[in-house]
Amino acid sequence: MNITVIGTGYVGLTTGVCMASKGHKVYCVDISKEKIDAINSGTSPIYEEGMDDLLKQALKKGLLKATLDAENSIKDSEVVFICVGTPSREDGSINLDYIKTAAETVSQNLNNYKVIVVKSTVVPGTTVNVVKPVMDKSKKSYGLCMNPEFLKEGTAVKDFLEGDRIVLGVIDDESEDVMRKVYKDFPQKIFVTNPTTAEMIKYANNSLLAAKISFANEVGNVCKKLGINVYEVMDGVGMDKRLCRSFLNAGIGFGGSCFPKDVKALISKGEELKEPMTLLKSVISVNEKQPIKMVELLKKHLNPANKKIGLLGLAFKKGTDDVREAPSLKIIDELLSLKAEVIAYDPEAMSNVKKIYNNKIILADNKEEVVKKSDAVLIITDWDEFKVPELYKNKIVIDGRKIKTNAEIYEGICW
Ligand SMILES: NC(=O)c1ccc[n+]([C@@H]2O[C@H](COP(=O)([O-])OP(=O)(O)OC[C@H]3O[C@@H](n4cnc5c(N)ncnc54)[C@H](O)[C@@H]3O)[C@@H](O)[C@H]2O)c1
Repeated sequence: MNITVIGTGYVGLTTGVCMASKGHKVYCVDISKEKIDAINSGTSPIYEEGMDDLLKQALKKGLLKATLDAENSIKDSEVVFICVGTPSREDGSINLDYIKTAAETVSQNLNNYKVIVVKSTVVPGTTVNVVKPVMDKSKKSYGLCMNPEFLKEGTAVKDFLEGDRIVLGVIDDESEDVMRKVYKDFPQKIFVTNPTTAEMIKYANNSLLAAKISFANEVGNVCKKLGINVYEVMDGVGMDKRLCRSFLNAGIGFGGSCFPKDVKALISKGEELKEPMTLLKSVISVNEKQPIKMVELLKKHLNPANKKIGLLGLAFKKGTDDVREAPSLKIIDELLSLKAEVIAYDPEAMSNVKKIYNNKIILADNKEEVVKKSDAVLIITDWDEFKVPELYKNKIVIDGRKIKTNAEIYEGICW
C-alpha cells in the first residue's frame, strides 16, 4: 500500500521505516529539511538500535522517500499517519497546534478515499472532536483511525515490529478493513475499539507505568532509611502474577517525552472535567523530587560548590539520544545553582545536551575522563558501558541506577 507518514521524529520515522520493511511504499513527510536530507542519505536523525539498517534497506528497495512535499505524498497515498508532536503547555494541558496543522494539510489534499490515522498521543476526544471536523471540511469521503503507539525509545524498532498489541480505534468498518491490510504482516494481536477509547488506552497505559515507577521510588526512599534492599523487595513483589516485576525498579525517576507529558495531560483533562486525579498528581510529585535526591545525597559527602561533579549519562534512559524531560537536566540545573562545575559524558546524547547548555558544562570525550577529572561521580543513565566496577575505584559515587561499583564512598538513591 502507499502510505504517508507526517512527522519524522521518534514515532514517525519508526513507523515509516517499519512499514517499508513490510513492503509498503512510504513517504516520510516533515517540515525540517535537515531531517529529510539526513533520512534520504540513509542516516537516521535519531539514535535507535536497528534504525539505520532498516532505513538503508528501505531506501535501497525504493520503498521509502523522505520529502517536504506533503501535498503530492498525501494525494498518492491510501493511508496517512499523523505522527507530529503533542507537547505540554505551561499548565500541563496538551498543545494540539501541530495536530491541527497536519490535519488541515491532509484535509486540503484529500483527492480520493483514504484512511487518516492519528498516531500521535492525543487526549480522549481529539480524533473525533478536533481531527474529524477538519476532514469534514474537505467534503470528500475518508476513513479515520486512532492508532496509539506504544514503542519505547531505545527499543523503538523492535517494539513497533513485535510489540504486545496493536490498538485500532476506528470510526467504521471500512476504516478497520484498510487498517487490517496495513498491519496484515505484523504478528501482534489487533484490538479494535472506537477512537476515544483508543486515546484513553494510551493515557491509562502510560499513567499506570509511571505510577509503578513512582510507587517503587516512594517505597525505595523508605527502604533506604530502613536499610532494606528495595530491588529484593520488588523481586518478591513482582513474583505476584497480578503485579509483574517490570517498571518496579526504584531510582532516579522517569523522564522522556512521554510519561511526564502524558500524565500531566490526563491530570489536566481530569481538572477540566472536575474529576481531580489525586493519584496521578502524586505520581508526578514523587517523580519531580527524585533527581534532586541525588544532589542531597552528594551533599552528605561533599559541598558541591567549586567542585567538579561528574555525570555519567544524560539521556533519559539507555539506548536513546533523547534528553527531553531527562532527570539529568534537573540535576545539572541544581548543581549549577550550587556553583558546582559539571563535567558529563553520554554515548549518544551529547549533542542534544550541548544545544541546551552550550558552554555552561564540560562535555567530556569519554567516561574515563569524567571519572578522572571529577571530585564525585553521579550515575544518571544505565548505559552498559558504565557497568564497570573498577572504573569507580577511590571515588565518591552517587548512583541513580543500581550499577555495581567498587567506589570508596558509594551511595545509592534508594538503597
Ligand atoms: N517518543 C516516544 O517514545 C513516543 C512513544 C509513543 C507515542 N509518542 C507520541 O508520538 C507523537 C510524536 O512524538 P515524537 O517523539 O516522534 O515527536 P518528535 O518531536 O520527535 O517528532 C515530531 C516531528 O513532527 C514534525 N512536524 C511537526 N509539524 C509538522 C507538519 N505540519 N508536517 C510535517 N512534519 C511536522 C517535526 O518536525 C518533528 O520531526 C507525540 O504525540 C508523542 O507523545 C511518542
